[in-house]
Amino acid sequence: MLSSQSGSILIVDDERHLRETLREIFEEASYQVWEAGDGQTAIEQLQSGSASPDVVFLDLKMPRLDGLATLRMLHDSASWRTIPVVIITSFGTSDNTIEAMKLGAFDYITKPFNEEEVIRAARRAVEVARLGRELDSLRDQVSRSRLGAEGELIGQSAAIREVFKLIGKTAPADATVLITGESGTGKELVARAIHRHSLRADGPFVAVNCPAIPESLLESEMFGYERGAFTGAVRDQMGRFESAAGGSVFLDEIGDLPVGTQAKLLRTLQDHVVERLGGRSIPVDFRLIAATNRSLEQLVAEGCFREDLYYRLNVVRIHLPPLRERRADILPLAEGFLWRHGQERSDAPRGFTEEATRLLLAYDYPGNVRELENIVQRALVLARGALITAADFPIPLAGETEPGISQFRGAELLTRPLGEAVQSLEREMIRRALARCQGNKAEAARLLGINRQLLYTKLKELGIE
Ligand SMILES: Nc1ncnc2c1ncn2[C@@H]1O[C@H](COP(=O)(O)OP(=O)(O)OP(=O)(O)O)[C@@H](O)[C@H]1O
Ligand SMILES: [Mg+2]
Repeated sequence: MLSSQSGSILIVDDERHLRETLREIFEEASYQVWEAGDGQTAIEQLQSGSASPDVVFLDLKMPRLDGLATLRMLHDSASWRTIPVVIITSFGTSDNTIEAMKLGAFDYITKPFNEEEVIRAARRAVEVARLGRELDSLRDQVSRSRLGAEGELIGQSAAIREVFKLIGKTAPADATVLITGESGTGKELVARAIHRHSLRADGPFVAVNCPAIPESLLESEMFGYERGAFTGAVRDQMGRFESAAGGSVFLDEIGDLPVGTQAKLLRTLQDHVVERLGGRSIPVDFRLIAATNRSLEQLVAEGCFREDLYYRLNVVRIHLPPLRERRADILPLAEGFLWRHGQERSDAPRGFTEEATRLLLAYDYPGNVRELENIVQRALVLARGALITAADFPIPLAGETEPGISQFRGAELLTRPLGEAVQSLEREMIRRALARCQGNKAEAARLLGINRQLLYTKLKELGIE
């Protein structure tokens, strides 16, 4: 009954009894089944086409070609690389299991079998295999180069298309541009795009991150100084406006500019002249692009920002709405990041399962595009097989919005190496799951969407009591 089939599976195990048990379980659930007694036979069957499975269930300890070697061969081959492999292990052999997961196995089951667990693993693997194939044929039609090179703005919402238009219209003019939007919405990227499309594209793009420079140094950084202007000024030094000659100056977080510096900036904007500390006025040739995540209107009302400077800056205004208000951009961005960050890995997942897609679309992204990018990068590390699944996402995305997991809020994330951040998140998730289930490991594993053995492995690996 080919039409009603759930999928097809190749069982590779040297114990005949075990193969038969699995065959029974699978055939009962209407899977088509092939068997091989060792890795070598399995590879030969795949090569000759006498077996063409969606999924391979693979024992680790076998004569001739063992499980890990077989897994390596599958993953090194362009045509088999995408077949999800479920490892069959005996309880207590976690080292090999971990090694297999590192090599890209999709999942594993432990002997003696729990029928339900076996079927669940098969169902998930077959789903991933199928979606992976569909995606492949889709991808062939859409050239990957269209999915955004580094620095290119991705998006198809009405809001972002409006932004593209504004960039196109204003870039060639020399008008000052003020870019507003929450943190992580892409303000710097837009600033760079404006520069790239302007007549000054061949000139420098000089970025000044206002809050990052100590107030005492900000003016000498921006406007330069003359020898002897202050202790330690042993020679003349040009400021950023001068070094941007023929190009653009990007003043990031301009809302944080001290009031004294605001006055000097205003003069520079009006006269296109900078006054170096301790002396000369020097004509400068620059185009100003400014950005802020704060409301300049409110800062003006509070007396923290000069109104005259505000009007000077607010000539062309480009506002980037938060990602949650332009959800049509979520999937194109996620796909673009998946491609961009997975590019150098031949075994990187090439898409998202339906559930994962749903979660991506439903989430609010307090850290905006930067947070989405981090989520995709993290999932790329955790994912097995051809598609990213819901289990590869952090808890806030998977439906819980507990504020405690601050590692995954916007910019803070980037302060730690990825591996370390992922581990600490894993630790946190497991602790919470255990606490919620009063220490019941079976329930906690279910809550986390992993099987119990993996939970035990993780507990040991992460040193959780
Ligand atoms: N439309 C987009 N297409 C592709 N990548 C984007 C887009 N918007 C933002 N990004 C990416 O998201 C990250 C954050 O963007 P960016 O640094 O420009 O944000 P920002 O608004 O300047 O944030 P902050 O206010 O925190 O400085 C960057 O890695 C950027 O490449
Ligand atoms: Mg920025």
